[in-house]
Amino acid sequence: MLLMKDILDEKDKILRKKSQEVTFPLSLEDKKTVEDMIEFLTNSQIEEKALEYNLRPGMGLAAVQLGILKRYFVIVHEYDEGKFDNYVIFNPKLISNSEEIIYVGEGEGCLSVNREVCGIVPRYARVTVEGYDIDGNKIRIRAREELAIAFQHELDHLEGILFTDKIDKKDPFKGKDLYREI
Ligand code: NI
Repeated sequence: MLLMKDILDEKDKILRKKSQEVTFPLSLEDKKTVEDMIEFLTNSQIEEKALEYNLRPGMGLAAVQLGILKRYFVIVHEYDEGKFDNYVIFNPKLISNSEEIIYVGEGEGCLSVNREVCGIVPRYARVTVEGYDIDGNKIRIRAREELAIAFQHELDHLEGILFTDKIDKKDPFKGKDLYREI
C-alpha cells in the first residue's frame, strides 16, 4: 500500500515536469497504481485509518506525485459523511468553465506540500473535464465547488504546476473581494 513516504515532496524537480499522454490498454502496473491511489486517498479521509497509517488527508493525487510522468489522476470525494465517490481520469482536458471564480478560504492543500501555505488560489467554480476511464472509454465529468477545485488542482499537476505557484507573491490575498470563498 502507498504511504506518505511514497509521495514526492514539492522540492522534487519531477513535480515540475509535464506528464505524458497515456495509451490504452493500460499496463497492469498503472491499474495497480490507480487502486493504490484510491485506497490511499480514501484511508487518508477516514480518521482512524489516517491515524493508523500516518496519512495526511487529501482528496486528490496525480501520478506524477508518485514519480510517474503520465497524464492521470484520482480524486476521492467525500460527498456525504463517510460516503466517497472516486474519479479516475486519463488524458484529461478542461473543456469548459464558469466565469465565476472561487477559492478555498482555509487555503488549498496538496499531499506534496508539507507546510501551511496561506493565500488565494483562484479557481473556476464549475468545470467540465473530458478524458478516458480506466478501460479507455471517453468520459465527461462536470464538477462544481470543492470538486471543481480538486480537478483544476490535479490538472495543474500534469503541467508541473503547484497550487503555491498561483498565489500572488506580493499580495497573497489579492482578489479576496472579487472571488467567492468556499
Ligand atoms: Ni496536489
